Amino acid sequence: MNALGNKHILLGVTGGIAAYKAPELVRRLRELGATVQVVLTAAGGAFITPLTLQAVSGQPVHTQLLSAEAESGMGHIELARWADLILIAPCTADFMARLAQGRSDDLLAACCLASRGAIAVAPAMNAGMWDSAATQRNLRQLIADGVQVFGPASGSQACGEVGEGRLLEPAELVACCAGLFGTNALTDKQVLITAGPTLEDMDPVRYLGNRSSGRMGYALAAAARDAGAVVTLISGPVALAEPPGVTLLRVRSASDMHHAVLERIAGMDIFIGAAAVADYRPAQASARKIKKDQEHLTLELVRNPDILAEVAARSPRPFTVGFAAETDDVLTYARRKLEDKNLDLIAANLVGAGQGFDVADNALSVLWPGGQQELPRASKPTLARQLVKLIAERLRASA
Ligand code: PMT
Repeated sequence: MNALGNKHILLGVTGGIAAYKAPELVRRLRELGATVQVVLTAAGGAFITPLTLQAVSGQPVHTQLLSAEAESGMGHIELARWADLILIAPCTADFMARLAQGRSDDLLAACCLASRGAIAVAPAMNAGMWDSAATQRNLRQLIADGVQVFGPASGSQACGEVGEGRLLEPAELVACCAGLFGTNALTDKQVLITAGPTLEDMDPVRYLGNRSSGRMGYALAAAARDAGAVVTLISGPVALAEPPGVTLLRVRSASDMHHAVLERIAGMDIFIGAAAVADYRPAQASARKIKKDQEHLTLELVRNPDILAEVAARSPRPFTVGFAAETDDVLTYARRKLEDKNLDLIAANLVGAGQGFDVADNALSVLWPGGQQELPRASKPTLARQLVKLIAERLRASA
């Protein structure tokens, strides 16, 4: 496999105990065809030597911003231009803060600031540092700036605590990197995706809705497009820009979305239901504004059609992918939906305050008949690329 063939990856190693995993990461990146250069920060150098990283990368290791030798050859601008991807692994809380501020006071920070390419961070730190308000604020800033975030994983830590903050394993990081680059895995496939909420009108001024922002579905549309697919996106009302190169249809209610999907489903190779479709709608939308002249108001709701189940029941049918949004027992409910709706694959996410809905990052458990894969917390565009890659693999396996 040559998933990173001809790719230039600048690996930034910052000062955390997980720096000991950097040589294996370099080795695995190179195995997939990448050329790797390493920038080691001063703190990173306290954990691992330049000589080790030079030996595994086959390239001199860069450590100094103000080095006459470096500036004559590969200064921070040249390194930034050279890199298709700057991957910072491990990325400490301190480096996240400096990146979020746009500092340029060491070589790695300056390379990131000068970069016009992709930047990804793989955080690694104590669970308390990860949970802190400051780190979470920096994380949101980085995601808003378009930085990809790989992990962190959860588990026991070098400091003796248990929680979120472990560096993803090198194999997972390499898969995340491969997922960043267009794969042509879905060349010419027709893909129909639903995204966002549906709004169910009660009267001309009020509706029942949900917290979906559409980010997950829009990220999937972009990722499928980048993988070579011809993408149609059917979106509930959201405040997101139209993704370039994707046919976008805007709808409002579950009934609208149902009609739009059924009109376009014939000939589709893949259907992905990422929308948060309302299960119920008011039995009767009032033509006039409902007046508050009663102490109690009872609203009768009726079931909406299950779009995903209808698509999965068609013959012939596309490769059908659902989502499961759950507040508890995520895997049990997701497995049940996979089986009951006869899906090819389901992506399950935990939703609740600040999770899943209307946030920039997410984590998915992906299930299919006889298999399962975890996609650890990352920005929605990163997760979308990983999910599209997995869908392409499962599609091939099912052919
Ligand atoms: O939009 P974001 O803010 O980025 O948030 C992303 C998300 C949390 C909305 C997304 O990741 C997600 O989980 N989408 C599915 C939400 C949902 O409605 O889940 P569900 O478990 O209630 O539904 C299961 C599946 O059936 C979903 O694929 C849904 O699209 C589909 N469905 C549900 C009801 C219905 N009437 N028709 C359907 O097609």
